[in-house]
Amino acid sequence: MTELKTITIIKPDDWHVHVRDGKILEKVIKYTAQFYKRAIIMPNLEDPITNCVKSLAYRNRILNSIKFNSTFQPLMTCYLTPFTTSKELEYGFYKKIFVAAKLYLKSSTTNSENGIKNINDINHILQCMEDISMPLLIHGEDNDKNIDIYDRESEFIKNILEPLRKKFSKLKIILEHITTKDAVEYVKKHDEQYLSATITPHHLMLNRNDMFLKGIQPHLYCLPILKKRTHQQALRQAVSNGDKHFFLGSDTAPHLNKNKIHCFGRPGIFNAPSSLLCYITVFEELNALKHFQAFCSENGPNFYNMPINTETVTLVKKPFKILNKINIGKKKIIPFLSGKTLHWSMKT
Ligand code: NCD
Ligand code: ZN
Repeated sequence: MTELKTITIIKPDDWHVHVRDGKILEKVIKYTAQFYKRAIIMPNLEDPITNCVKSLAYRNRILNSIKFNSTFQPLMTCYLTPFTTSKELEYGFYKKIFVAAKLYLKSSTTNSENGIKNINDINHILQCMEDISMPLLIHGEDNDKNIDIYDRESEFIKNILEPLRKKFSKLKIILEHITTKDAVEYVKKHDEQYLSATITPHHLMLNRNDMFLKGIQPHLYCLPILKKRTHQQALRQAVSNGDKHFFLGSDTAPHLNKNKIHCFGRPGIFNAPSSLLCYITVFEELNALKHFQAFCSENGPNFYNMPINTETVTLVKKPFKILNKINIGKKKIIPFLSGKTLHWSMKT
């Protein structure tokens, strides 16, 4: 029998996950904890994580939801609102309660109603973050409803990010889940210590045609929305070159099926059960496996000035069937690519 192809890399981190709370948290956290050593936890709960007290309690709920022996570390973030104070952020950052703060412009995505209306309203906060080298995580879409949904990221870069960078050139920024050629080119122009970007598996694997294949596919609806093929290719090109500006952030975002299949279906793709396997599939297709470890396990910690993990994971070229659904009591969540088979699995 021929040996199966395997690849061993330093254990990766996921620099953008939504694990929710309560019953959903209890069911989904194991998928992130199985692949990743650390994960940046998004603070956009219905009651957002806006201060240290809420963050510490949420972190405990996350750790208590992990039922197997695990060394997984949730890295907490602070949701910026018009009422955030520099004192709270500074205290949280120095005490290592927060590793970063998250900017949602108001009404730009799930649970962003408490976000920022106008970026200039928080100049004092951004100044403080620049001074203490606290990273700013950005959902980069212009929330002006007159802007076409497919242009919201590129307009954000022009109208909001570029002026912000001019004002705070030493602020450490991650442009999250980028989806366009414009974002790739913009990020590449800057020093990777001050501007980097995460890329999701779904934006690497799919484009907007896939959302409408055989009929509308609500489980592929996410924000920023899937873009056209030329943008997908630019993202694939960016990761295949091994550029240090780009790293892993799955944006796994579980929603109950009843909220996806709804006349106001929610944005978000739950990819945690397969995210790492999707990434390796893409890197193999691109003939770029030599850059896989840097994307998964090195570029992220280097940006955050955190140690690189010492554990490893081994992936093996063996079919892996993605589960059809996970049950949450009588309700369910449908994972990304549910029921499909990938060619890579995790060695246990
Ligand atoms: C995320 C969610 O559901 O919380 N949804 C998504 O489509 N990505 C929020 C976000 O990251 O925009
Ligand atoms: Zn997200």
